[in-house]
Amino acid sequence: MKKHNFSAGPCILPQVVLKQASEAVLNFNNEDLSLIEVSHRSKGFVEVMEKARSLVVELLKLEGKGYAVLFLQGGASLEFLMTPYNLLSKEGKAAYLDTGTWSAKAIKEAKLIGDIDVVASSKDKNYNYIPKGFKIDPTVDYFHCTSNNTIFGTQMKSFPKTDGLMVCDMSSDIFSRELDFSQFDLIYAGAQKNMGPAGATLVVVKEDILGKTGRNIPSMLDYQVHISKDSMFNTPSVFAVYVSMLTLQWLKDLGGVGAIEKINNAKAELLYNEIDTNPLFEGVAEKEDRSYMNVTFVLTDESLKDNFDRSWKAAGINGISGHRSVGGYRASIYNAMPLESVQVLVDVMREFNK
Ligand SMILES: Cc1ncc(COP(=O)(O)O)c(C=O)c1O
Repeated sequence: MKKHNFSAGPCILPQVVLKQASEAVLNFNNEDLSLIEVSHRSKGFVEVMEKARSLVVELLKLEGKGYAVLFLQGGASLEFLMTPYNLLSKEGKAAYLDTGTWSAKAIKEAKLIGDIDVVASSKDKNYNYIPKGFKIDPTVDYFHCTSNNTIFGTQMKSFPKTDGLMVCDMSSDIFSRELDFSQFDLIYAGAQKNMGPAGATLVVVKEDILGKTGRNIPSMLDYQVHISKDSMFNTPSVFAVYVSMLTLQWLKDLGGVGAIEKINNAKAELLYNEIDTNPLFEGVAEKEDRSYMNVTFVLTDESLKDNFDRSWKAAGINGISGHRSVGGYRASIYNAMPLESVQVLVDVMREFNK
């Protein structure tokens, strides 16, 4: 493909994965059947699901630590509801950190289920920073945060300690950097950034935290039901799971999360350096909280917008218009985005200044 795709999600996937996926749509495992017309209970697809699960555990270095991996549907948005349903006890309370639109949506859903304490918010500055130094009530059932704020371009560089459980929405930076993933009791992420096409939601959950709320949970919202059925309580999103498996294998072959983190750092530093040195641009997020996945920036002179837009479009760049709530530009540089494409954008910015 010839375009440099900086879309925020759905977004760029590795070319090799797209090719393998397209072949499987026509002929899966040389069975003369399409991937999307075989039974999800066929041996071939069950193997895909098992492989996807084991790649997640391996890449996050969670082997033998009691985590279950689920591929569900409903997007990260349904997890906003499933998390409190499964972890918030009837009389209990949960703490939430409000760092952007997605955190705010998670808070809204959780409030339908129980008592929610918003420990801090960066809404006062249109979410351009990550609040720090807040206190988490030690009696809460869990603390919820969003590791990377896709819309505003901020990212948590460290995570607080809490006596309760740790829950994290990692939709837009999972598999992008090395973290001690075992500090989280539940991680969820929509597939459509660093993992695959839209349609699958990854949930990684410590099994022994479940079943303790005293609630009657509808089956489709109950993690224990999905675990007991190996993510096949209902028909899974076979195509999204298959492409996720291929992308995870691609990441493993590349050297895993540590290897991609180095590439991601190089891409982000290249772009932020241009934003900081080119007088025509300025970054949106506070420097210490800058996201290495979604780079938000504005023109210092808005009257140049039409000209700049023509320049990047002419260079084959796609998807850098900012989200409507921030304006300006947002370049999403997920795992599959090559350094060469970031260089093309930087060259356009440099040339524009000249
Ligand atoms: C951080 C974050 N959380 C949640 C969501 C919502 O995900 P979905 O559309 O899969 O429900 C998004 C979507 O972009 C996101 O970036």
